[in-house]
Amino acid sequence: MEFSIEVGSLEKQSTACVVVGVFESGKLSASAKALDKLSGGLISDLVSGGDMDGKSGSSLVLHRTPGIAAARVLLVGLGKEKDFHEKEYLSAVSNAVRQVYGLGGADAMIYLPELPVGKRDLAWKVRHATLVAQDALYRFDQLKSKKPEPQRPLRQISFCVNRRSEVSDANAGLAEGLAIGSGVELAKNLGNLPANLCTPSFLAEEAKNLAKDYGLAVEVLERADMEKLGMNTLLSVARGSHEPPKFIVLRHAGGAAGSKPVVLVGKGVTFDTGGISLKPGAEMDEMKYDMCGAASVLGTMKAAAIMALPLNLIGVIPATENMPGGAATKPGDIITSMSGQTVEILNTDAEGRLILCDALTYVERFDPDCVVDIATLTGACVIALGNVASGLFCNDSALTEELLRAGVEAQDRAWQLPLWDDYQDQLKSNFADMANIGGRAGGSITAACFLSRFTKKYTWAHVDIAGTAWRSGKEKGATGRPVPLLAHFLLERAIQAPKGSGKQKSK
Ligand code: BES
Ligand code: MN
Ligand code: ZN
Repeated sequence: MEFSIEVGSLEKQSTACVVVGVFESGKLSASAKALDKLSGGLISDLVSGGDMDGKSGSSLVLHRTPGIAAARVLLVGLGKEKDFHEKEYLSAVSNAVRQVYGLGGADAMIYLPELPVGKRDLAWKVRHATLVAQDALYRFDQLKSKKPEPQRPLRQISFCVNRRSEVSDANAGLAEGLAIGSGVELAKNLGNLPANLCTPSFLAEEAKNLAKDYGLAVEVLERADMEKLGMNTLLSVARGSHEPPKFIVLRHAGGAAGSKPVVLVGKGVTFDTGGISLKPGAEMDEMKYDMCGAASVLGTMKAAAIMALPLNLIGVIPATENMPGGAATKPGDIITSMSGQTVEILNTDAEGRLILCDALTYVERFDPDCVVDIATLTGACVIALGNVASGLFCNDSALTEELLRAGVEAQDRAWQLPLWDDYQDQLKSNFADMANIGGRAGGSITAACFLSRFTKKYTWAHVDIAGTAWRSGKEKGATGRPVPLLAHFLLERAIQAPKGSGKQKSK
């Protein structure tokens, strides 16, 4: 799909479809009004006659309207004007794009970014319209032998602005939307791939391809390297699998030499059976999504590279399967982590924290400005926050605010949960420094507390995306979250630390 920004008078737009909005009151958007004039009042007649009620989700297609050059006009319902906020704007764009896709024309000109959306500026409106459009058009059909394609596929979507002076802002929003969208798409594709294809080795190859295509540096540590480093808790998870584990390190050196990097660490369990503490069968297929943290790191690195963000960024991915097997780790086994702390593994299904803790120790060597780990870590997080917000845990209040705000701005929200010491007692072990589980109560929090024992040397946040990384049921599929949150977080940091200045935001 090609996206572009267009400016120009409506009557001359020869396109397969021009898209404008109508409110529930019957009020027409500025461009709908202009079209109404050109068509001699046809649109207002249809609205007053009840053919188009302007309710959100509604739409009406007009063909070959006299006075209008476009082959079709799509009227999109906007709902009540007083309730027209960000969510309503984005669902109008999404609805428009879905409709246009079904109409069979090759291109469309969408006049929705002209609508006022609270205090949002044009760049924001275009950026998010671009993201929502890509989301609406996303299909994962690479593994279907016959791909359903419309006869005349949609090839070009233009977001239209009314004044030439608006073009540069709109283009800035478009560029961000395309960069972040391409990161989201990568994260979705990797998430949706089944675990027989998306193995740790496959993720390592993807990272190498990404590095080659976008000018990143890449390094992949093998099992022997991990053994030398003493990454025993990570290796303890890999023991039951025939697939070799990989430890991936990607670097984007966009910042001043010597400026401290932001480090992203993504859980890359390419399939989580639970190991010897085997999961029940129902919906176990969804555990192919247990590498969505890793996918979001790759997606965010891609977006950051495309936007050429002027900061130093390192992505780290511990990747392995979690399988039962003759060599698998058993409940009760005690393992010495890379940090030297010992862990009694009481449940082999709490494997995410075991691979993350060694990765979190490894990243100390980068002297990070901050570390953010992203993981489908706990079912308890889905119980706590559902599929709306990711769980955020953080040992620094400024970083907490930064990430929460990025989530709000990017329409990819997180919600803070406590990391209080009071919960640490639940991790007591009779035989080792700690157990790898803390009981049912506060399961997401004790998982984060476990990680916190490995992150004392730097500013750190943990994002539990168990509820947000994919959707279940009929619309099953990866969401690409939290790439928008992370990309926005980095964008904001890039604004604060311009290229070459070497200035870092104070903690
Ligand atoms: N990958 C799962 C977490 C998960 C479960 C995400 C369901 C999304 C949906 C993780 O490895 C896991 O199995 N966690 C256990 C921890 C428990 C054994 C302490 C869980 O949440 O049940
Ligand atoms: Mn598990
Ligand atoms: Zn898992």
